Formats: sequence, structure tokens, C-alpha cells
Amino acid sequence: MKPDLEGKVAFVTGASRGIGRAVAVELASRGADVALAARNVEPALEVAEEIRAGGRRTMAVALDVADPAAVEAAARQVGDELGKVSILVNNAGITRDQLLLRMKEEDWQAVMRTNLDGTFHCTKAFCRDMVRARWGRIINISSVVATLGNPGQANYAASKAGILGFTRSVARELAGRGITVNAVAPGFIETAMTDGLPGGTKEALLGSIPLGRLGSPRDVAGLVAFLAGGRGGDITGQGIHVDGGMVMT
Ligand code: NAI
Repeated sequence: MKPDLEGKVAFVTGASRGIGRAVAVELASRGADVALAARNVEPALEVAEEIRAGGRRTMAVALDVADPAAVEAAARQVGDELGKVSILVNNAGITRDQLLLRMKEEDWQAVMRTNLDGTFHCTKAFCRDMVRARWGRIINISSVVATLGNPGQANYAASKAGILGFTRSVARELAGRGITVNAVAPGFIETAMTDGLPGGTKEALLGSIPLGRLGSPRDVAGLVAFLAGGRGGDITGQGIHVDGGMVMT
């Protein structure tokens, strides 16, 4: 059987490690050629090796998604080298945790620039070709804290909640062009982002997860690949949780 995503080109931000890496490898395993974007290109080159070994075309781009000119340049470069992107995964994200009263202006700005502005820049730059092709998939990585909130993460939660509103609005704008736009909201996933949590916090966390486990990057990647494929074609404007049941609606 022909792989679901054969002939498609995907662009994944923050693809050097964690969830982005798993998403890139999963999309490639389903037949897509995948461009990998990360601030630091060295680890992304390793991911590219893995994808090439599986028989797909790939390239790694050093990119700060907060820089709109750099995003436009990356879109041109990927278009020239791999072909027109029809699957965009806005995954790049950072935290700068601090209680509100101690949160510095720069902590707020840094998180907004990468998480929310970066999603805007990439969506704007990459959706043009999707509009022309009248087919596209945009998947934005939000978070469980967009819904639940989290002390010490006012900046991060606001950026991830912003992604949900952005997703719904753009989904409505682009629906007529055959483009779906969805958000995936992971709970607590075992990556570098959660490695730093102190022991006690991790145990308390597990107690708040109905399934009693941290998720894996592959759990998230499976849903992203489903939304990117043919069978996800009737789903748009949604925020779907992969969180062991932390949010049930
Ligand atoms: P990570 O810290 O392991 O990887 C983040 C990736 O984003 C790296 O490749 C990094 O180079 C890239 N990145 C960061 N800032 C960037 C920028 N300005 N421009 C380009 N690339 C940039 O993170 P992880 O855990 O894999 O998270 C991925 C996404 O999933 C993030 O958006 C995060 O907020 C979200 N998420 C993660 C959860 C978790 O428990 N790990 C839970 C909920 C959401």
C-alpha cells in the first residue's frame, strides 16, 4: 500500500529533539519528505540522517521562528530544495517559568515571540502555497496548560491559549481552500522540557493524570500524523488533547 503522505512535503519547527523530532520521523515514516527547522542546526542534522536512512528526502534549516524575515527566507529555501510545503507543524516552543510578581518583561516577551509570534510567522509564510494548491494541513502544538493554567507559567499558558484562538480563526479563514488547521495539546510528555522538573513535582503531577503516566513524544506524533493524513481531512479548528485524561471535555 502507498504510504499515506507520499508526495507531500512537511515543515516541522523545533525538529531537533523531543516532540518535534518524533513528529518529523513519524511524518517521514508515513512517506513525507520533511524539512527540519531548529535554532541549532547540529542536532537537526542527526534527525535528517535518520530520515534519509528511511528513504525520504530531508533538509535541516537553522531558524529562529521569532524572526519573520528568517522564516520567509526558510520558506523560499525549502520550496526551492524540497518542493512546496503542504504540511506545517508549528512545534517550536520555550518556557521561561516564573511567578507573575517576579516575571520579567523579557521572560514574557521571549515566550510570546517564540511560541505565539513564531506560529503566526510560519503559518503566514507557508500557507500561501497551500492556498494555491487548495490543499494543506497546519498543526499547531499548544499545551494542556492553555486550558488548566499553571502557577509560574502565566506567559507560557497565555501563549499556548493564544495558539488555540489563532488556530480556530485561521481554520475558518482557510477552510474554503481545502486547508485544515488544528491544535494538539500535549499534557506532560517525557522530553528535555519536563526533565528539569524537581522529583516531588513529577510525583504530584503523576497523581493528577488519570492514566497515571507521562506521555511520550511518539504519542503526540501519532496524532499529528493522523491529522496530516487523508483520514484527518474532516477535522478542522480543533484543539485535541494528548494528556492522559488531564482535561476531559
Ligand atoms: P524541547 O525543549 O525538547 O524542544 C524544543 C524545540 O524547539 C527544539 O528543537 C528547539 O531548538 C526549538 N526551538 C525553541 N525555540 C525556537 C525558536 N525560537 N526557533 C526555532 N526553534 C526553536 O521541547 P518539547 O518538550 O519537545 O516541546 C515541543 C513543543 O511541545 C513545544 O511547543 C512545547 O511547548 C510543547 N509542549 C511540550 C510539553 C511537554 O511536556 N514536553 C507539554 C505540552 C506542550
